[in-house]
Amino acid sequence: MKTNKKMLILAGDGIGPEVMTQVRRVVDWFDRRRAVKFDMQDGLVGGASYDKHGTPLTDNTLADAMAADAVLFGSVGGPQYDVLPFEKRPERGLLRLRKELGLFANLRPAMVFDALVDASSLKPEVVKGLNIMILRELTGGIYFGEPRGIEKLPDGQRRGINTQVYTTNEIRRIARVAFELAKKRQNRVCSVEKSNVMESGILWKEEVIHVHKTEFPKAELSHMYADNCAMQLVRNPKQFDVIVTDNLFGDILSDCAAMLTGSLGMLPSASLGDVDQQGQRRALYEPVHGSAPDIAGKNIANPIAQLLSFAMLLRYSFDLDEDARLVEAAVEKVLASGMRTADIMQPGAAKVSTVVMGDAILRELDKQAA
Ligand code: IPM
Ligand code: MG
Repeated sequence: MKTNKKMLILAGDGIGPEVMTQVRRVVDWFDRRRAVKFDMQDGLVGGASYDKHGTPLTDNTLADAMAADAVLFGSVGGPQYDVLPFEKRPERGLLRLRKELGLFANLRPAMVFDALVDASSLKPEVVKGLNIMILRELTGGIYFGEPRGIEKLPDGQRRGINTQVYTTNEIRRIARVAFELAKKRQNRVCSVEKSNVMESGILWKEEVIHVHKTEFPKAELSHMYADNCAMQLVRNPKQFDVIVTDNLFGDILSDCAAMLTGSLGMLPSASLGDVDQQGQRRALYEPVHGSAPDIAGKNIANPIAQLLSFAMLLRYSFDLDEDARLVEAAVEKVLASGMRTADIMQPGAAKVSTVVMGDAILRELDKQAA
């Protein structure tokens, strides 16, 4: 008998809980209609955890995340927490999860659904059919580098310090993920750094070249400076297949790539760790969008990014490609039918709420499975 999959749900703050409610309905649907069964557990993270426990991530919740087969994460943050000291901020909960679970590989696909070609701020011909993968290193670089801090100078000024640092192994393991991903796509990798001004960028480039030569010689490898990449992403995004880059550049470039698709409300992501001895890998799935406090609680948020994050969970954690495709196809059908949440609204389309979007996707799943 197959054991149940253990899934920890951390809905977080802002629109997190309301979009997660729609995903839960879809998870229930899978439980009822498909072979896969989930043991779901809930936890608090971000501001929601701070309000109850005084910290954005408790040790207990972290232990639950460690024990889960996969974590489905909503979003964290809100203006009421901006006054908190750095270590108590909601974002620290997410960063601690990434670090402690060793989630070094962040997959951020940017794809344009045909029905949404006009939602992009770019010309339709530039984005139609777009399907690129940004692979962001997630546990190193300037986000975690030491020394860091704000210090007082003798003359009364202050100095803020962060450190960009990467080691051989950190670069090689993310490069391997990039080449493995590319294999299942067009087998093209573009490595992005600033080796024209940064030593860490020189090392990055050299190590990616090494992994390419020694392990993946069949892949096509190119290199680009990060600033040029930002420009190329809006000029001709379809030139890319897989982009691999560091933590900070990946943060910025993935927002840029996300907007090519018309809405942050559409994009999922996966954060993966190393495969352990049992062949298991820790994983966390989250939408690229944030907690959107300005629209939270109004039943207008787009649940699709969260739902597509669940589809990525099915695919990457449980190898359930067919089930993942069911979710993706349902989303595509509902969009093609003209239903839109406010963020992707277009003239002539039908504007629907978060819950009605959830209803429509469930109906579509029923149809497909009939
Ligand atoms: C992201 C976010 C986070 C980051 C924040 C919330 C810490 O912008 O996941 O892209 O900078 O990594
Ligand atoms: Mg970001």
